[in-house]
Amino acid sequence: MSASNQGYAEEAPALLKRYEEIAFEEAHGGVLDRIPRGPLRVLEIGAGSGRDAAWFAARGDVVLAVEPTREMREGGRQLHPSPAIEWLDDGLPALAKVRARGERFDLIWISAMWMHLDADERGAGMATLAALLAAPGAVMMSLRHGPVPEGRRMFAVTGEETIALAARHRLSCTLSETRDSPRAPGVAWTALWFVRSENRGGQDEG
Ligand SMILES: C[S@@+](CC[C@H](N)C(=O)[O-])C[C@H]1O[C@@H](n2cnc3c(N)ncnc32)[C@H](O)[C@@H]1O
Repeated sequence: MSASNQGYAEEAPALLKRYEEIAFEEAHGGVLDRIPRGPLRVLEIGAGSGRDAAWFAARGDVVLAVEPTREMREGGRQLHPSPAIEWLDDGLPALAKVRARGERFDLIWISAMWMHLDADERGAGMATLAALLAAPGAVMMSLRHGPVPEGRRMFAVTGEETIALAARHRLSCTLSETRDSPRAPGVAWTALWFVRSENRGGQDEG
């Protein structure tokens, strides 16, 4: 994997606590009404504390929670010991272990993670997402904009470029909404929702 998870191992105890203080509904209010009724097979990438995985598990979905930072993964597993959540040490762009399982997912959930990938990784990562998505299926992505926290690796990634990249992999954006963070001054979040483009008629690219 890349250096995309730089800083997370060192800060895991504080970050696990901080992520758990935010309710799922607060973090993802903009896309709540898009989430299909379950049960769904959910792939969460960069699952962090497992807050979102636990929300899906509690409503009856089955979640594969991918988290490459051992300290976050083990912390999340302890915080949310649900039999409906399987934790896996893997990462974008390749998600080699996930791909090797040969499964497809109804919903791919990427909260606050995509902007840790550089441009080449985002290109390869989008092809991975398209290959793992069931039909019909949806991808949720939230992008953080603003000052980069000390010790992390993060890029300025816009909603527009992400929508254009997704379109090249036949994923259409049906929702793009940017809001200021109520918690961190100078920080904003873009929520994106993608579905497979209609009239695909073929296989995914990549
Ligand atoms: C800002 S945290 C978000 C955690 C959680 N999704 C949330 O919204 O609270 C980003 C997470 O992505 C993970 N991460 C970093 N690079 C990754 C990669 N290449 N593939 C998958 N996860 C990655 C980090 O270890 C970290 O746990």
